[in-house]
Amino acid sequence: MSNQKLFNVAVVGATGAVGEQILKLLESRNFPIQELKLLSSARSAGIKLSFQGKEVTVQEATPDSFKGVDIALFSAGGDVTKALAPLAVQHGAVCIDNTNAYRMDEHTPLVVPEVNIEKVNEHKGIIANPNCSTIQMVAALKPLHDRYGIARIIVSTYQAVSGAGSRAIDEMLRQTRASLQGDPVNPDILPVGTLPVKHQIAFNAIPQIDKFQDNGYTLEEMKMVRETKKILGDESIEVTATCVRIPVVYGHSESVYVEFKNNYDLEDVKQLLEDAPGVTLVDDPANQQYPLATDAAGKPDVFVGRLRRDLGHERGLNMWIVSDNLLKGAAWNAVQIAEHIAKG
Ligand SMILES: NC(=O)c1ccc[n+]([C@@H]2O[C@H](COP(=O)([O-])OP(=O)(O)OC[C@H]3O[C@@H](n4cnc5c(N)ncnc54)[C@H](OP(=O)(O)O)[C@@H]3O)[C@@H](O)[C@H]2O)c1
Repeated sequence: MSNQKLFNVAVVGATGAVGEQILKLLESRNFPIQELKLLSSARSAGIKLSFQGKEVTVQEATPDSFKGVDIALFSAGGDVTKALAPLAVQHGAVCIDNTNAYRMDEHTPLVVPEVNIEKVNEHKGIIANPNCSTIQMVAALKPLHDRYGIARIIVSTYQAVSGAGSRAIDEMLRQTRASLQGDPVNPDILPVGTLPVKHQIAFNAIPQIDKFQDNGYTLEEMKMVRETKKILGDESIEVTATCVRIPVVYGHSESVYVEFKNNYDLEDVKQLLEDAPGVTLVDDPANQQYPLATDAAGKPDVFVGRLRRDLGHERGLNMWIVSDNLLKGAAWNAVQIAEHIAKG
Protein backbone atom coordinates (compact mmCIF):
# COMPACT_ATOMS: atom_id res chain seq x y z
CA MET A 1 0.00 0.00 0.00
CA SER A 2 1.37 3.39 -0.99
CA ASN A 3 1.24 6.35 1.41
CA GLN A 4 1.14 8.76 -1.53
CA LYS A 5 -1.32 11.57 -0.86
CA LEU A 6 -4.00 11.77 -3.56
CA PHE A 7 -5.41 15.03 -4.91
CA ASN A 8 -8.69 16.22 -6.33
CA VAL A 9 -7.67 17.80 -9.63
CA ALA A 10 -9.65 20.05 -11.97
CA VAL A 11 -8.61 20.79 -15.56
CA VAL A 12 -10.31 23.95 -16.82
CA GLY A 13 -10.21 24.04 -20.63
CA ALA A 14 -9.88 20.24 -20.80
CA THR A 15 -11.21 20.12 -24.38
CA GLY A 16 -8.65 22.64 -25.73
CA ALA A 17 -5.24 22.19 -27.35
CA VAL A 18 -3.40 22.71 -24.04
CA GLY A 19 -6.00 20.86 -21.92
CA GLU A 20 -5.67 17.76 -24.11
CA GLN A 21 -1.92 17.68 -23.45
CA ILE A 22 -2.41 18.26 -19.71
CA LEU A 23 -4.69 15.22 -19.58
CA LYS A 24 -2.18 13.07 -21.48
CA LEU A 25 0.59 14.13 -19.09
CA LEU A 26 -1.45 13.57 -15.92
CA GLU A 27 -2.14 10.10 -17.28
CA SER A 28 1.38 9.21 -18.45
CA ARG A 29 3.01 10.66 -15.30
CA ASN A 30 0.51 8.74 -13.17
CA PHE A 31 -0.27 11.92 -11.23
CA PRO A 32 -1.66 11.07 -7.76
CA ILE A 33 -5.33 11.78 -8.48
CA GLN A 34 -8.25 11.04 -6.18
CA GLU A 35 -10.92 12.64 -8.34
CA LEU A 36 -10.55 14.32 -11.73
CA LYS A 37 -12.91 17.07 -12.91
CA LEU A 38 -12.84 18.06 -16.56
CA LEU A 39 -14.27 21.52 -17.18
CA SER A 40 -15.04 23.53 -20.31
CA SER A 41 -17.60 26.03 -21.54
CA ALA A 42 -21.26 25.04 -21.99
CA ARG A 43 -20.36 24.17 -25.62
CA SER A 44 -18.48 21.00 -24.72
CA ALA A 45 -20.29 20.12 -21.48
CA GLY A 46 -21.57 16.54 -21.62
CA ILE A 47 -18.94 15.11 -23.94
CA LYS A 48 -16.85 12.27 -22.58
CA LEU A 49 -13.06 12.15 -22.53
CA SER A 50 -11.01 9.08 -21.77
CA PHE A 51 -8.64 9.09 -18.79
CA GLN A 52 -6.72 6.02 -17.63
CA GLY A 53 -9.17 3.73 -19.37
CA LYS A 54 -12.27 5.39 -17.91
CA GLU A 55 -14.66 7.87 -19.46
CA VAL A 56 -14.96 11.22 -17.68
CA THR A 57 -17.84 13.55 -18.55
CA VAL A 58 -16.86 17.16 -19.22
CA GLN A 59 -18.82 19.68 -17.13
CA GLU A 60 -19.40 23.37 -17.60
CA ALA A 61 -17.00 25.38 -15.42
CA THR A 62 -18.98 27.36 -12.82
CA PRO A 63 -18.09 28.94 -9.46
CA ASP A 64 -19.34 25.77 -7.74
CA SER A 65 -17.04 23.51 -9.76
CA PHE A 66 -14.15 23.96 -7.34
CA LYS A 67 -15.63 22.67 -4.09
CA GLY A 68 -13.17 20.09 -2.74
CA VAL A 69 -10.63 20.69 -5.52
CA ASP A 70 -6.97 20.69 -4.38
CA ILE A 71 -5.21 21.57 -7.64
CA ALA A 72 -6.82 23.38 -10.61
CA LEU A 73 -5.02 23.65 -13.93
CA PHE A 74 -6.44 26.52 -16.00
CA SER A 75 -6.10 26.86 -19.80
CA ALA A 76 -9.40 28.39 -20.91
CA GLY A 77 -8.38 31.99 -21.64
CA GLY A 78 -7.60 34.92 -19.38
CA ASP A 79 -11.21 35.94 -18.75
CA VAL A 80 -12.11 32.50 -17.43
CA THR A 81 -9.10 32.52 -15.12
CA LYS A 82 -9.97 35.99 -13.83
CA ALA A 83 -13.58 34.96 -13.19
CA LEU A 84 -12.98 31.53 -11.65
CA ALA A 85 -9.44 31.19 -10.25
CA PRO A 86 -10.04 33.51 -7.24
CA LEU A 87 -13.16 31.47 -6.39
CA ALA A 88 -11.21 28.24 -6.70
CA VAL A 89 -8.61 29.70 -4.32
CA GLN A 90 -11.40 30.57 -1.86
CA HIS A 91 -12.43 26.91 -1.97
CA GLY A 92 -8.85 26.00 -1.02
CA ALA A 93 -7.45 25.04 -4.42
CA VAL A 94 -4.00 25.93 -5.73
CA CYS A 95 -4.42 27.19 -9.31
CA ILE A 96 -1.78 26.78 -12.00
CA ASP A 97 -2.72 29.15 -14.77
CA ASN A 98 -1.63 29.00 -18.41
CA THR A 99 -3.12 32.35 -19.38
CA ASN A 100 -1.85 35.91 -19.25
CA ALA A 101 -4.28 36.89 -16.45
CA TYR A 102 -1.90 36.94 -13.44
CA ARG A 103 1.58 36.59 -14.94
CA MET A 104 2.69 40.12 -14.13
CA ASP A 105 0.76 40.36 -10.85
CA GLU A 106 3.33 41.10 -8.15
CA HIS A 107 1.83 38.54 -5.76
CA THR A 108 1.78 35.74 -8.34
CA PRO A 109 4.90 33.65 -8.95
CA LEU A 110 5.76 33.19 -12.64
CA VAL A 111 7.47 29.83 -12.76
CA VAL A 112 9.65 27.80 -15.09
CA PRO A 113 10.74 24.88 -12.86
CA GLU A 114 14.26 24.66 -14.33
CA VAL A 115 14.76 28.36 -13.62
CA ASN A 116 12.91 29.41 -10.44
CA ILE A 117 10.97 26.53 -8.87
CA GLU A 118 11.62 28.05 -5.42
CA LYS A 119 9.12 30.83 -6.29
CA VAL A 120 6.27 28.30 -6.08
CA ASN A 121 6.51 28.48 -2.30
CA GLU A 122 5.57 32.19 -2.39
CA HIS A 123 2.17 31.57 -3.99
CA LYS A 124 -1.04 33.02 -2.58
CA GLY A 125 -3.23 30.49 -4.37
CA ILE A 126 -2.31 31.16 -8.01
CA ILE A 127 0.90 30.23 -9.83
CA ALA A 128 1.31 31.53 -13.37
CA ASN A 129 2.78 29.57 -16.26
CA PRO A 130 4.69 31.97 -18.53
CA ASN A 131 4.02 32.58 -22.20
CA CYS A 132 5.13 29.66 -24.39
CA SER A 133 7.81 31.62 -26.30
CA THR A 134 9.25 32.97 -23.06
CA ILE A 135 9.43 29.59 -21.31
CA GLN A 136 11.65 27.94 -23.91
CA MET A 137 13.92 30.99 -24.18
CA VAL A 138 14.55 31.43 -20.45
CA ALA A 139 15.01 27.67 -19.88
CA ALA A 140 17.96 27.81 -22.30
CA LEU A 141 19.32 31.20 -21.18
CA LYS A 142 19.24 30.64 -17.40
CA PRO A 143 22.60 28.80 -17.08
CA LEU A 144 24.24 31.31 -19.45
CA HIS A 145 22.86 34.24 -17.47
CA ASP A 146 24.15 32.72 -14.22
CA ARG A 147 27.65 32.32 -15.67
CA TYR A 148 28.11 35.38 -17.88
CA GLY A 149 25.32 37.85 -17.05
CA ILE A 150 22.95 38.74 -19.91
CA ALA A 151 22.90 42.43 -20.84
CA ARG A 152 20.64 42.22 -23.89
CA ILE A 153 18.43 39.83 -25.86
CA ILE A 154 17.12 40.28 -29.40
CA VAL A 155 14.64 37.52 -30.26
CA SER A 156 12.62 36.75 -33.38
CA THR A 157 10.08 33.97 -33.09
CA TYR A 158 8.62 31.58 -35.66
CA GLN A 159 5.52 30.38 -33.82
CA ALA A 160 3.31 27.38 -34.56
CA VAL A 161 -0.42 27.78 -35.14
CA SER A 162 -1.21 25.43 -32.22
CA GLY A 163 -0.09 28.31 -30.01
CA ALA A 164 -3.35 30.00 -31.00
CA GLY A 165 -5.53 27.04 -30.03
CA SER A 166 -7.15 24.14 -31.82
CA ARG A 167 -9.28 26.37 -34.09
CA ALA A 168 -6.10 27.92 -35.52
CA ILE A 169 -4.75 24.45 -36.40
CA ASP A 170 -8.00 23.67 -38.24
CA GLU A 171 -7.84 27.05 -39.99
CA MET A 172 -4.31 26.49 -41.29
CA LEU A 173 -5.09 23.00 -42.58
CA ARG A 174 -8.34 24.21 -44.19
CA GLN A 175 -6.62 27.17 -45.85
CA THR A 176 -3.76 24.96 -47.09
CA ARG A 177 -6.22 22.56 -48.78
CA ALA A 178 -8.23 25.47 -50.22
CA SER A 179 -5.11 27.18 -51.48
CA LEU A 180 -3.79 24.04 -53.21
CA GLN A 181 -7.18 23.57 -54.88
CA GLY A 182 -7.19 27.20 -56.03
CA ASP A 183 -10.16 28.04 -53.78
CA PRO A 184 -10.44 31.24 -51.67
CA VAL A 185 -8.80 30.83 -48.23
CA ASN A 186 -11.20 33.13 -46.30
CA PRO A 187 -9.09 34.03 -43.23
CA ASP A 188 -11.18 33.82 -40.06
CA ILE A 189 -9.04 33.10 -36.99
CA LEU A 190 -5.52 34.56 -37.18
CA PRO A 191 -4.24 36.83 -35.73
CA VAL A 192 -6.27 35.33 -32.88
CA GLY A 193 -8.46 37.57 -30.72
CA THR A 194 -11.12 40.20 -31.29
CA LEU A 195 -9.26 41.96 -34.09
CA PRO A 196 -10.95 43.60 -37.08
CA VAL A 197 -8.63 42.14 -39.75
CA LYS A 198 -7.72 38.48 -40.24
CA HIS A 199 -4.86 37.25 -42.47
CA GLN A 200 -4.05 34.13 -44.45
CA ILE A 201 -1.72 31.77 -42.56
CA ALA A 202 -1.30 29.04 -45.20
CA PHE A 203 1.97 29.65 -47.12
CA ASN A 204 2.46 32.88 -45.17
CA ALA A 205 4.20 34.51 -42.17
CA ILE A 206 2.15 36.91 -40.04
CA PRO A 207 4.21 39.42 -38.00
CA GLN A 208 1.43 39.96 -35.47
CA ILE A 209 0.60 37.78 -32.47
CA ASP A 210 -2.04 39.35 -30.23
CA LYS A 211 -3.01 43.05 -30.15
CA PHE A 212 -0.73 45.99 -30.90
CA GLN A 213 0.28 48.10 -27.90
CA ASP A 214 0.74 51.89 -27.91
CA ASN A 215 4.53 51.44 -28.30
CA GLY A 216 4.20 49.59 -31.64
CA TYR A 217 5.00 46.16 -30.20
CA THR A 218 2.40 43.41 -29.99
CA LEU A 219 1.19 42.04 -26.66
CA GLU A 220 3.03 38.75 -27.35
CA GLU A 221 6.27 40.69 -27.86
CA MET A 222 5.74 42.67 -24.65
CA LYS A 223 4.98 39.42 -22.78
CA MET A 224 8.45 38.18 -23.79
CA VAL A 225 10.03 41.46 -22.61
CA ARG A 226 8.31 41.63 -19.21
CA GLU A 227 8.16 37.93 -18.37
CA THR A 228 11.86 37.34 -19.16
CA LYS A 229 12.87 40.01 -16.63
CA LYS A 230 10.47 38.66 -13.99
CA ILE A 231 11.48 35.00 -14.36
CA LEU A 232 15.23 35.68 -14.47
CA GLY A 233 14.75 38.16 -11.62
CA ASP A 234 16.73 40.87 -13.38
CA GLU A 235 15.03 44.06 -14.54
CA SER A 236 18.28 45.31 -16.12
CA ILE A 237 18.14 42.78 -18.99
CA GLU A 238 17.19 44.59 -22.21
CA VAL A 239 14.84 42.53 -24.36
CA THR A 240 13.47 43.29 -27.81
CA ALA A 241 11.18 40.82 -29.57
CA THR A 242 9.52 40.28 -32.94
CA CYS A 243 6.89 37.55 -32.85
CA VAL A 244 5.77 35.90 -36.07
CA ARG A 245 3.14 33.21 -36.72
CA ILE A 246 4.16 30.66 -39.36
CA PRO A 247 2.35 27.67 -40.89
CA VAL A 248 3.84 25.01 -38.61
CA VAL A 249 1.42 22.95 -36.48
CA TYR A 250 3.54 22.13 -33.39
CA GLY A 251 6.75 23.72 -32.07
CA HIS A 252 7.92 27.31 -31.74
CA SER A 253 11.35 28.21 -33.17
CA GLU A 254 13.32 31.25 -32.07
CA SER A 255 16.37 33.08 -33.38
CA VAL A 256 17.94 34.50 -30.23
CA TYR A 257 20.83 36.97 -30.09
CA VAL A 258 22.30 37.44 -26.60
CA GLU A 259 24.87 39.99 -25.50
CA PHE A 260 26.67 39.07 -22.28
CA LYS A 261 28.13 41.43 -19.70
CA ASN A 262 31.27 39.31 -19.52
CA ASN A 263 33.48 37.63 -22.12
CA TYR A 264 32.33 34.09 -22.81
CA ASP A 265 33.87 30.87 -24.00
CA LEU A 266 31.84 29.14 -26.73
CA GLU A 267 32.85 25.64 -25.63
CA ASP A 268 31.83 26.46 -22.07
CA VAL A 269 28.46 27.73 -23.34
CA LYS A 270 27.94 24.40 -25.11
CA GLN A 271 28.85 22.51 -21.95
CA LEU A 272 26.48 24.63 -19.84
CA LEU A 273 23.66 23.85 -22.26
CA GLU A 274 24.59 20.14 -22.33
CA ASP A 275 24.30 20.10 -18.54
CA ALA A 276 21.17 22.28 -18.26
CA PRO A 277 18.06 20.47 -17.00
CA GLY A 278 15.35 20.09 -19.63
CA VAL A 279 17.65 21.34 -22.40
CA THR A 280 19.04 19.25 -25.27
CA LEU A 281 21.93 20.60 -27.31
CA VAL A 282 21.67 19.76 -31.03
CA ASP A 283 24.55 21.62 -32.59
CA ASP A 284 26.47 19.77 -35.29
CA PRO A 285 26.57 21.91 -38.45
CA ALA A 286 29.04 19.56 -40.17
CA ASN A 287 26.30 16.93 -40.14
CA GLN A 288 23.46 19.44 -40.61
CA GLN A 289 22.14 18.73 -37.12
CA TYR A 290 20.20 21.53 -35.46
CA PRO A 291 16.85 21.81 -33.70
CA LEU A 292 13.75 21.41 -35.88
CA ALA A 293 10.11 21.91 -34.91
CA THR A 294 9.25 18.55 -36.47
CA ASP A 295 11.77 16.82 -34.16
CA ALA A 296 10.74 18.79 -31.06
CA ALA A 297 7.02 18.11 -31.49
CA GLY A 298 5.76 15.68 -28.85
CA LYS A 299 8.90 15.98 -26.69
CA PRO A 300 9.19 17.80 -23.36
CA ASP A 301 12.66 19.33 -23.84
CA VAL A 302 13.93 22.67 -25.10
CA PHE A 303 16.32 22.11 -28.03
CA VAL A 304 19.22 24.51 -28.71
CA GLY A 305 21.66 24.77 -31.61
CA ARG A 306 23.28 26.97 -34.29
CA LEU A 307 25.56 28.45 -31.60
CA ARG A 308 27.92 31.04 -33.07
CA ARG A 309 29.73 34.16 -31.92
CA ASP A 310 28.50 37.44 -33.36
CA LEU A 311 30.88 38.74 -36.05
CA GLY A 312 30.78 42.34 -34.81
CA HIS A 313 30.46 41.92 -31.06
CA GLU A 314 32.86 39.75 -29.04
CA ARG A 315 30.27 39.21 -26.27
CA GLY A 316 27.38 38.50 -28.69
CA LEU A 317 26.03 34.97 -29.23
CA ASN A 318 23.49 33.73 -31.77
CA MET A 319 21.41 30.65 -31.12
CA TRP A 320 18.33 28.77 -32.34
CA ILE A 321 15.88 27.54 -29.70
CA VAL A 322 12.99 25.17 -30.46
CA SER A 323 10.37 23.53 -28.23
CA ASP A 324 6.88 22.07 -28.38
CA ASN A 325 4.70 25.03 -27.38
CA LEU A 326 1.91 22.79 -26.10
CA LEU A 327 4.29 20.79 -23.90
CA LYS A 328 7.17 22.75 -22.33
CA GLY A 329 5.42 25.94 -23.50
CA ALA A 330 2.23 25.08 -21.61
CA ALA A 331 1.06 21.65 -20.39
CA TRP A 332 4.38 20.10 -19.32
CA ASN A 333 5.52 23.26 -17.49
CA ALA A 334 2.16 23.31 -15.65
CA VAL A 335 2.29 19.61 -14.76
CA GLN A 336 5.89 19.98 -13.55
CA ILE A 337 4.64 22.68 -11.14
CA ALA A 338 1.71 20.47 -10.09
CA GLU A 339 4.13 17.59 -9.40
CA HIS A 340 6.26 19.91 -7.26
CA ILE A 341 3.17 20.88 -5.24
CA ALA A 342 2.07 17.26 -4.94
CA LYS A 343 5.49 16.31 -3.52
CA GLY A 344 4.78 18.83 -0.73
N1 LIG B 1 -1.72 26.82 -27.25
C1 LIG B 1 -0.59 27.15 -26.64
O1 LIG B 1 0.53 26.87 -27.10
C2 LIG B 1 -0.65 27.91 -25.35
C3 LIG B 1 0.53 28.06 -24.65
C4 LIG B 1 0.51 28.75 -23.45
C5 LIG B 1 -0.68 29.25 -22.99
N2 LIG B 1 -1.83 29.10 -23.70
C6 LIG B 1 -3.06 29.67 -23.15
O2 LIG B 1 -3.94 28.64 -22.74
C7 LIG B 1 -5.30 29.03 -22.97
C8 LIG B 1 -5.99 27.96 -23.82
O3 LIG B 1 -5.27 27.79 -25.00
P1 LIG B 1 -5.60 26.61 -26.02
O4 LIG B 1 -4.58 26.75 -27.07
O5 LIG B 1 -5.76 25.31 -25.34
O6 LIG B 1 -7.04 27.10 -26.59
P2 LIG B 1 -8.22 26.26 -27.27
O7 LIG B 1 -7.70 25.09 -28.00
O8 LIG B 1 -9.01 27.27 -28.02
O9 LIG B 1 -9.09 25.72 -26.02
C9 LIG B 1 -9.80 26.59 -25.19
C10 LIG B 1 -10.40 25.81 -24.03
O10 LIG B 1 -11.03 26.72 -23.13
C11 LIG B 1 -12.39 26.33 -22.94
N3 LIG B 1 -13.24 27.51 -22.73
C12 LIG B 1 -13.48 28.53 -23.58
N4 LIG B 1 -14.34 29.41 -23.02
C13 LIG B 1 -14.63 28.94 -21.78
C14 LIG B 1 -15.49 29.37 -20.74
N5 LIG B 1 -16.18 30.50 -20.82
N6 LIG B 1 -15.55 28.63 -19.60
C15 LIG B 1 -14.84 27.47 -19.49
N7 LIG B 1 -14.04 26.99 -20.46
C16 LIG B 1 -13.94 27.72 -21.59
C17 LIG B 1 -12.76 25.62 -24.22
O11 LIG B 1 -13.90 24.81 -23.99
P3 LIG B 1 -14.96 24.48 -25.17
O12 LIG B 1 -14.53 23.16 -25.73
O13 LIG B 1 -16.27 24.35 -24.42
O14 LIG B 1 -14.95 25.58 -26.15
C18 LIG B 1 -11.49 24.81 -24.45
O15 LIG B 1 -11.44 23.70 -23.58
C19 LIG B 1 -5.25 30.41 -23.61
O16 LIG B 1 -5.41 31.39 -22.63
C20 LIG B 1 -3.86 30.47 -24.18
O17 LIG B 1 -3.36 31.79 -24.26
C21 LIG B 1 -1.85 28.43 -24.86
